[in-house]
Amino acid sequence: FSLKPFNTFGVEAKAKYFVEVNTAEELIKTLKHSHSQTLPLLFLGGGSNILFTKDFDGLAIQLNLKGISEKFLNENEVLVTAKAGENWHEFVMFCLNKNYGGLENLSLIPGNVGTSPMQNIGAYGTEIKDYFVNCKVLNLNTLEVETFDLEKCRFGYRDSIFKQEGKNKYVILEVSFKLTTQNHTIKTEYGAIQSELENLGITNPTIQDVSKAVINIRQSKLPDPKKIGNAGSFFKNPTIPLAQFEDLKLKFENIQGYPNGNFVKVPAGWLIEQCGWKGKQIGNVASHQLQSLVIINATGNASGKEIFDFSTLIIDSVKEKFGIELEREVNIL
Ligand code: EPU
Repeated sequence: FSLKPFNTFGVEAKAKYFVEVNTAEELIKTLKHSHSQTLPLLFLGGGSNILFTKDFDGLAIQLNLKGISEKFLNENEVLVTAKAGENWHEFVMFCLNKNYGGLENLSLIPGNVGTSPMQNIGAYGTEIKDYFVNCKVLNLNTLEVETFDLEKCRFGYRDSIFKQEGKNKYVILEVSFKLTTQNHTIKTEYGAIQSELENLGITNPTIQDVSKAVINIRQSKLPDPKKIGNAGSFFKNPTIPLAQFEDLKLKFENIQGYPNGNFVKVPAGWLIEQCGWKGKQIGNVASHQLQSLVIINATGNASGKEIFDFSTLIIDSVKEKFGIELEREVNIL
């Protein structure tokens, strides 16, 4: 079974078996069946953060659970719950159409609602942890449904329990967010949003305006996975000790960094560009010409292995020039 339509890189890989599930009950039934056969399992969401480097000798399960519900908590707050298979951006647009505020800075992020807690998706000054209430998950050992609240999820920068101790132990079924219904907080601290709103001639932005600005920024520098295979940022922005940053600053005076206590987060895109990778292509793979943190399937014919090898070359050269070891953000299979 070809997994090509199920990964935004658009690389070819095959799964021995494939099934699509539309409800939690269907999922449990499928798992009971597969447990008896002890098949390796692979859960597919939006396919926007995964790189297949080989075929999968097991059962791939496409999580297609759909539905959004709302519960008004008080005059200004609503609890919105979306099932795992809802497309993230469509969910954000649903909220904005209803004038529910909070997630607008996360417009146009690829992927599904069910994978959003895995890496605590974030962009333009917002992370889902800022609005997250809880998620329902299926425990793969017990096949019981459990609820994980904010604390239990242990969100960090592109991180959560689901990437650490909880890895491969749970499947996220639905996620609930607490959003505002009237007194919205408009988040425009991120420089690019400010300037895009100015371009649009907007001085008193609504949540819908912020979304529009974010969409314009993303469309202007991030490749559309429907047209060019990619998985967004391929690497995390590395965090290094302040002392190391200060040393680097002596040698590379333009180095950028966002201080955080005794550490500094450095934009990986800048490091990669400085190593000469921006827009560079080897075979079928390239670093995007407008945002070097994004690796693209430039010809549409790249294999996962080729993309992986390209990313290794980038890691090696950044390590050599700056002494910083980049970490892949995309899951490698
Ligand atoms: N930069 C360069 N060269 C590049 C790319 C970036 O010099 O090729 C510099 C920019 O000039 C800027 C800085 O790096 O000063 C940061 O760039 P940008 O604002 O584009 O954000 P980022 O740190 O590269 C992160 C997220 C993105 C998210 C943006 C906006 C990570 C790994 N990536 O990128 O997330 O959209 O911030 O908040 O944290 C994604 O995960 O797929 C993704 C796109």
